[in-house]
Amino acid sequence: MFITLEGPEGSGKTTAIKYAVSKLKEMGYEIVQTREPGGTPISEQIRDVILSKENTDMDGRTEALLYAASRRQHLVEKIWPALKEGKIVICDRYLDSSLAYQGHARGLGEKAILDINLFATEDTYPDLTILFDIDPEIGMKRINDNTDREVNRLDLEQMEFHKTVRNAFLEISKEYPDRYVVIDASRPLEIVEKEVLDIILKRL
Ligand code: TYD
Repeated sequence: MFITLEGPEGSGKTTAIKYAVSKLKEMGYEIVQTREPGGTPISEQIRDVILSKENTDMDGRTEALLYAASRRQHLVEKIWPALKEGKIVICDRYLDSSLAYQGHARGLGEKAILDINLFATEDTYPDLTILFDIDPEIGMKRINDNTDREVNRLDLEQMEFHKTVRNAFLEISKEYPDRYVVIDASRPLEIVEKEVLDIILKRL
């Protein structure tokens, strides 16, 4: 089972998944937890190029291709082998982040971004995508209040950009209703993390 977590900045998905992962492990499930961009040494190197605050000159299509390249390497080295071994893969961001950020917020078009990503992933879609929906005003405030998390190049975009990202995710969730579950991530962590576990258990 291939599960992806999506949402705007500061939606808390990385924190909220920890509870489900520990409970699932206790139940005996084998979990591979990973993230994009990154997850393997090559993909992490690509991540550094994409997110570096120095790379303000990066062209939108270059950015989209780098995300897709990082994703491809991640699938080949980590995700496909784990799925083959029957493990549950939980990935923090995946293809839909490219559709929302590059396709919609950067204005490159969802179809164009989907095309390069279907080439990169050989049509590998998740079985379940949990969308942590939150108003970006609240999300960005959470990030600014959280001193542990480093601010990256995409965080520095204007509020309009983040609002477009949020709306894009909501639209994409309607395009793929079979694999999408949308949750309200503005609620307290204890509620959100339990709901995430319930959603995963239902699908298993
Ligand atoms: P990260 O620090 O992992 O952010 P978060 O904790 O919000 O997941 O940074 C990843 C950034 O890259 C984030 O701003 C979203 C963006 N992104 C894209 O624009 N396209 C993509 O395909 C992916 C995977 C991420």
